[in-house]
Amino acid sequence: MGVPAIRWTESADGSAVVLLDQTRLPAEEAELVCTDPQGLVEAIRSLAVRGAPLLGIAGAYGVALAAARGFDVREAADALAAARPTAANLAYGVRRAQAAYRGALADADGGDDTAQSSRRAAEAALAAARNLHREDAEGSARMAEHGLRLLEQLLPGGGHRVLTHCNSGALVSGGEGTAFAVALAAHRAGRLRRLWVDETRPLLQGARLTAYEAARNGMAYTLLTDNAAGSLFAAGEVDAVLIGADRIAADGSVANKVGSYPLAVLAHHHQVPFIVVAPVTTVDLDTPDGASIEVEQRAGREVTEFMAPQVPQAGVEAVGGIPVAPLGAQAYNPAFDVTPPELVTAIVTDEGVVTPVTEERLGELCDRSRPD
Ligand code: MRU
Repeated sequence: MGVPAIRWTESADGSAVVLLDQTRLPAEEAELVCTDPQGLVEAIRSLAVRGAPLLGIAGAYGVALAAARGFDVREAADALAAARPTAANLAYGVRRAQAAYRGALADADGGDDTAQSSRRAAEAALAAARNLHREDAEGSARMAEHGLRLLEQLLPGGGHRVLTHCNSGALVSGGEGTAFAVALAAHRAGRLRRLWVDETRPLLQGARLTAYEAARNGMAYTLLTDNAAGSLFAAGEVDAVLIGADRIAADGSVANKVGSYPLAVLAHHHQVPFIVVAPVTTVDLDTPDGASIEVEQRAGREVTEFMAPQVPQAGVEAVGGIPVAPLGAQAYNPAFDVTPPELVTAIVTDEGVVTPVTEERLGELCDRSRPD
């Protein structure tokens, strides 16, 4: 991508979080400048910035922004963490930057004046956000390595035909992403025969974003409607499914973009590996099982109208989509679904691979990677 998914800037006008506005892709690479935490909250809700790991990075920069610009940091952190409920990384990133901010305030020398200790605390929050951003890029490279090795073990010989859903590439990460990064590594190794890209209704993250990333990387890809996946499996055209995750519960249940669970059922029926790729920061051991994961419900309009989400702007009425249902039709629009662990062949993380997926193995991996 020419424009990074997220960056921090400082100028005479003050600090800002600059996003690649994903609602405008693939038509244009436009940047969205957030100069206050509320603007970033709106960008998160409207999916201008999205995808679990990137939401964590955005949340952390949001806390740094609040601190740098003198907003109430606790209020901003709470609003950012609550902007979307399912992606575990959002609250993780917010709380990490907030802890750094609070720690610096607590450490402030008694002789420091208030302005000085606030500045130091803001610097600490920004350093935490930058660290998370860098760690995410490094973790993404490790997931790609682990995932490619696993693919080679599961599918020895030949080129792989991989199906993916939603978007999990550089647009969701400080690096090259999660599931998409594995497909990209296979492509670079000359082992990707085809990337099947689900369009991902209703907001078309597959068609708008994954196809855009695949094209930019010169990958052999084909777009399909979500409901064409069944016939593709039946025709024996899928060797593996690779998806990301928004939250992984302690028992290995995986919340990801709605439409992932039906793919897991199909993969199981057709004996095709169903592989989830996510950093350990997406694993939430405080959420015991799939039923305990809060699934975000979004506006029915996203289903009753054919639309890309719009960024709300003060004084500008949201542009409507094209109606595809009778006026007043009710719509069921969960943003995610939950796949039970028995349908998941492996969870590939930045810290290693869990297979078979059991609570014990997942817990062990998390313990190893989070000694504190
Ligand atoms: O609603 P979105 O676009 O934020 O949903 C994103 C997904 O479901 C991705 O597949 C998920 O975050 C995993 S990618 C790291």
